[in-house]
Amino acid sequence: PFRQRLLVVANRLPVSAVRRGEDSWSLEISAGGLVTALLGVKEFETRWIGWAGVNVPDEIGQKALTKALAEKWCIPVFLDEEIVHQYYNGYCNNILWPLFHYLGLPQEDRLATTRSFQSQFAAYKKANQMFADVVNMHYEEGDVVWCHDYHLMYLPECLKNHNNNMKVGWFLHTPFPSSEIHRTLPSRSELLRSVLAADLVGACTRILGIEGTPEGVEDQGRLTRVAAFPIGIDSLRFQNALLVPQVQEHIKELKERFSGRKVMLGVDRLDMIKGIPQKILAFEKFLEENPNWRDKVVLLQIAVPTRTDVPEYQKLTSQVHEIVGRINGRFGSLTAVPIHHLDRSLDFHALCALYAVTDVALVTSLRDGMNLVSYEFVACQEAKKGVLILSEFAGAAQSLGAGAILVNPWNITEVAASIAQALNMSAEEREKRHQHNFHHVTKHTAQEWAEMFVSELNDTVVEAQLRT
Ligand code: UDP
Ligand code: G6P
Repeated sequence: PFRQRLLVVANRLPVSAVRRGEDSWSLEISAGGLVTALLGVKEFETRWIGWAGVNVPDEIGQKALTKALAEKWCIPVFLDEEIVHQYYNGYCNNILWPLFHYLGLPQEDRLATTRSFQSQFAAYKKANQMFADVVNMHYEEGDVVWCHDYHLMYLPECLKNHNNNMKVGWFLHTPFPSSEIHRTLPSRSELLRSVLAADLVGACTRILGIEGTPEGVEDQGRLTRVAAFPIGIDSLRFQNALLVPQVQEHIKELKERFSGRKVMLGVDRLDMIKGIPQKILAFEKFLEENPNWRDKVVLLQIAVPTRTDVPEYQKLTSQVHEIVGRINGRFGSLTAVPIHHLDRSLDFHALCALYAVTDVALVTSLRDGMNLVSYEFVACQEAKKGVLILSEFAGAAQSLGAGAILVNPWNITEVAASIAQALNMSAEEREKRHQHNFHHVTKHTAQEWAEMFVSELNDTVVEAQLRT
């Protein structure tokens, strides 16, 4: 059967490379929701174009890596150190990421035309053109080109300038900030204009930054479709993982290790949008107010290192370590501590086992596009039917709100009370809430998300041709 070819273009490839020798590389699955969702998309002939997460200055290394990636249907875009510094650490993760999550622009960049801002924006455009060059090299007529996320807002325009017939979609995995926030960005119009060069623009939730008609946005006589496409996961991949003997064994070990205690779990990249300090402080307040629970509950916080060259992320790491240390010192005993904080990533099977033994999952994002960790937890809870405490500022609050306990992460008192509510909840109520969420997570999958986006993109292009 005919399967449409999909060129998925994202800054982050699904695998990141680690150099083992002059011409040898090993590949590891990349972390983050974008990769998880896209790995769940199966019914297309997909090619990936993106950055492998390393600097490869030499030709031998580039050749070898290109070959290794080809086996995973991945095509690398090579970015040198300076570009990564200015484009990835700078413009993407120091400016756009905090802004899109309502944390504002960094102080030193508030003076719109500082030199660093200008040169970072120039590097951003240059990097986007480098992605475009690789797409153009591999594009075949009829392909759908699907650009992803805030790293590549300039890409649709680069692609359309080169070939106006290319089917180009762009999807944002973060929240779209309200226009009041967006308008603070010095390069605001230029960025939005280039995104609107795409045929279809999508995001996880309602789109606030772009105002337009129900059909889309008209800019200089050209109509761009704009719509929300809620993302999902490949829930079967998680359910099936729980049946693997090695995972079963791991579950048994974890149950023994924490027997007699309720397990609370946080899984986040160590990012300021995840509200990790707020979560830990709420847990402290809960312990303070509920002395009888102190030796009966443990919080496991997996904090996956991320964007470690950006100073804000370094600051957050030490801040979190300090709070965890203080609380463990305060409530720990010679044999047990209330918080196990891990600065590392887990492999897929270990993660599934953790989800399965958890009694209460805590997602306290200050803002989050969707938050797939909440979906993954639900998918792994068929046996346990644990409780999800979920920030009302995560996109997932729209879909899992009825099953979860929704909280405002800034309200430490409320989160602490929700922890008590979750730990004391009757089996009956847990079951009811779980069923609601489980139904949603298993029904609205990553595959469905991709199919909806691509078919909408195909339709949009046909309609546009009919209009002209
Ligand atoms: N994850 C991971 N490595 C880990 C722990 C988690 O790759 O050690 C995955 C997790 O399974 C989830 C993703 O990272 O799929 C996080 O996605 P989410 O949407 O919750 O947040 P994001 O990191 O994209 O902001
Ligand atoms: C979020 C972003 C993704 C990004 C991921 C991991 O999910 O929306 O675009 O890939 O975080 O961050 P990183 O900077 O390591 O790619």
